[in-house]
Amino acid sequence: MILTRTVAEARAAITAATADLTHLAPRVGLVPTMGALHAGHGALLAQAREENDVVVVSVFVNPLQFEDPDDFAHYPRTLNEDVALIAEHVPDRPVIVFAPDTAEMYPGYRAFGDVPQITVSSGSMGTVFEGASRPGHFDGVCTVVTKLWNTLMPPAPATLRSYFGRKDAQQLAILTRTAADLNIPVEIRPVDLVRAPSGLALSSRNRRLDDHGMDKALILSAALSTLREQAVSGEPIDVHTARKMIDDDATVTLDYLEVVDPATLVPLSAAELRAPLSRDALALVAAVVPPVRLIDNMVLPAG
Ligand code: PAF
Repeated sequence: MILTRTVAEARAAITAATADLTHLAPRVGLVPTMGALHAGHGALLAQAREENDVVVVSVFVNPLQFEDPDDFAHYPRTLNEDVALIAEHVPDRPVIVFAPDTAEMYPGYRAFGDVPQITVSSGSMGTVFEGASRPGHFDGVCTVVTKLWNTLMPPAPATLRSYFGRKDAQQLAILTRTAADLNIPVEIRPVDLVRAPSGLALSSRNRRLDDHGMDKALILSAALSTLREQAVSGEPIDVHTARKMIDDDATVTLDYLEVVDPATLVPLSAAELRAPLSRDALALVAAVVPPVRLIDNMVLPAG
């Protein structure tokens, strides 16, 4: 494993690693992270290892996607543990870790709140759902990921794939659109969401739930599963009743539950929901199960 701290070091390491390979077109798999790696990242690393000749992992806590300076300051920074977890998941491929400091990623950066002159906008996809309660968050994500792709793009004929979890469905849709709209030659590879046997989507936030909270949280996946069953059996999609399942629990506060186009995040019309689905859709939900805000999503297949 090679640990790089600067753009120049990372580029040199990727060039050397791909030049060493005898393949006509070596495949490089990038897993962008903010560090503090856990089992969820393990799935991203495992898929990147499986599908590529070289694995690159970026570890960078991106100030542009935080609103609160305290959250940014206290975000866990655990590079030594992260490196150990990466080595465990990718034991048999060349691995390059890119862990720049803030000034390396954003030249001229002095303090929290500084934003580069030129950034990438997430457009209207970034102001709905999670973006509605976190203004600027997805612009920050688009800006840093575009910079990572530009920095870590291997020289031709090697190709780049970039791995994102389906758990953050909105982030995945926005970054897929970013690559397409900006003509960035990167293949986006989604990694399936992992559920506990209870149905609960795995998330590092679940650690903050007690047994009662864990129980309450199951209503999110239960509501989504009801919608999925309706889609699978070609019935109308009853979003109203699914919302009511969550609203009926006084301890859980629903933020949104919508059925949307997976690529554009535009909600399906009432007419589309009244008939068997004519195209795949995505059900998105967010709710506060005190003390945490949880998100979940499920694909609703066309009937
Ligand atoms: O999902 C994350 O951890 C971050 O949003 C990402 C993609 C690494 C960008 O900072």
